[in-house]
Amino acid sequence: MPHTIVIFGASGDLTSRKLIPALYNLKRKGRLPEDAKIVGFSRTDFSHEAWRKDLRATTQEFAGDKFKADVWDDFADQVFYCDGDIGKAEDFEKLGKFLTELEGGEDASRLYYLSTAPRFYGPAIEQLGKAGLACEEGDCQRRVIIEKPFGVDLESAKALNKTVHAHFKEKQVYRIDHYLGKETVQNLFVLRFANTIFEPVWNRNFIDHVQITVAEEVNVGSRAGYYDTAGVVRDMIQNHLLQLLMVTAMEPPASYAADPVRDEKVKVLLAVRPKSPKDIARDTVRAQYRGYLQADGVPDDSTTATFAAIKLGIDNWRWQGVPFYLRSGKSLSCRTTQIVIQFRQPPHMLFKEGPRTIRDANRLIIQVQPAEGIQMHFQTKVPDAGMTMRQTNLDFNYQKNFGGNIPEAYERLLLDAIEGDASLFARADEVEAAWGICDPILAAWAESDKAASDAPKLLSYEPGYWGPTESTEWMIAQRREWFDAC
Ligand code: BG6
Repeated sequence: MPHTIVIFGASGDLTSRKLIPALYNLKRKGRLPEDAKIVGFSRTDFSHEAWRKDLRATTQEFAGDKFKADVWDDFADQVFYCDGDIGKAEDFEKLGKFLTELEGGEDASRLYYLSTAPRFYGPAIEQLGKAGLACEEGDCQRRVIIEKPFGVDLESAKALNKTVHAHFKEKQVYRIDHYLGKETVQNLFVLRFANTIFEPVWNRNFIDHVQITVAEEVNVGSRAGYYDTAGVVRDMIQNHLLQLLMVTAMEPPASYAADPVRDEKVKVLLAVRPKSPKDIARDTVRAQYRGYLQADGVPDDSTTATFAAIKLGIDNWRWQGVPFYLRSGKSLSCRTTQIVIQFRQPPHMLFKEGPRTIRDANRLIIQVQPAEGIQMHFQTKVPDAGMTMRQTNLDFNYQKNFGGNIPEAYERLLLDAIEGDASLFARADEVEAAWGICDPILAAWAESDKAASDAPKLLSYEPGYWGPTESTEWMIAQRREWFDAC
């Protein structure tokens, strides 16, 4: 069956920066089906040619030396444009007719990509439904990809799921989290479930704690207007960090298929220990970088956190007593995403020279980005120095081992959605469970801004460091240390 990919929000940033370059790269690698047609839909009054011309320039910029004029020309023949307004039912009828004509009246598998501002997700779904463009019967295949953020809290996520399910079945819905499209995140499945040496120690008996850090060097830049309504929890933790948590902590699924994988992931979130306001006061640190208030679009009295560190417990057999520390922020030391599995110290120390602290114990570091790879830290005897030992590092680096470039997350995710594989997309219950964890934290923080309460006050930090010093002290008070390495 031929494929049609319809991008809503075609004139937006995401389309030109990520989606079209990803589709172009799939074409370059011979993975985009020959019969696939890409249709842009937005209010801008483009002709097919004008849109292609715009996209050529941006793709050239983002694809860099991967841009090949002849590949682009072939790709451009598959690209079309239909202008329309998400608020107008007649424009969806027009779109329907345009697609039927483009597909030559044949049955085609259609993928609708909602890359609009989030407030249009619900209306676009309704219009698709009402225009009869959402059917899923017999040979009629319709799928919808929904960008993040999926709601701003549990209530809005539930409302959006309700709208979605009024027109699409869950199996037609692909909620995207681009972190799941990253090679190193997928490699976590392989590391854990295609090897025998890790799984036996991947539990409370051997692991002291887990750190999941997504640090960004950039500040909020020109996105301050959006960011100030979101903050680090909605922007990063509810989605990307909790996805990393799920893949790190899940049980092995019975098979590598969408529902078995997502069943196990959602069980992790459901086992996360609920927090009272008092727990939140003890278990979270929030801060804003100095200078944030001066960014365009940020109110002078904004209390939006640009940094958060959150300690979560997972109440199940595998993880009881093992804290998971999630940490993310803008304007930090460097850009790095890493999962640190900190193992326990040996139960009995033979050597008076050590090692003695948790810092010296074994550590597995999954370097998600950049410098994608995996490192194992372990103690080694220093030659010719008695029993003095030093921590050394077994280092696997993607680039060195496989060469070439690591593909953009969107390539894999778009291809999976075209092929109907939802394993790397979030399910309705998963997104709601993630909000169920974040909502109480956001509520306690908001409460503490209003009145005296137990919740931690907003701290501040100097750009270019690892967040506020209180975050470092908070870990030390728990006899642990952040693994701060760029
Ligand atoms: C997005 C957030 O989802 O992820 C941004 O909205 C953030 O604020 C970005 O910068 C980080 O993605 P990546 O792939 O660069 O780590």
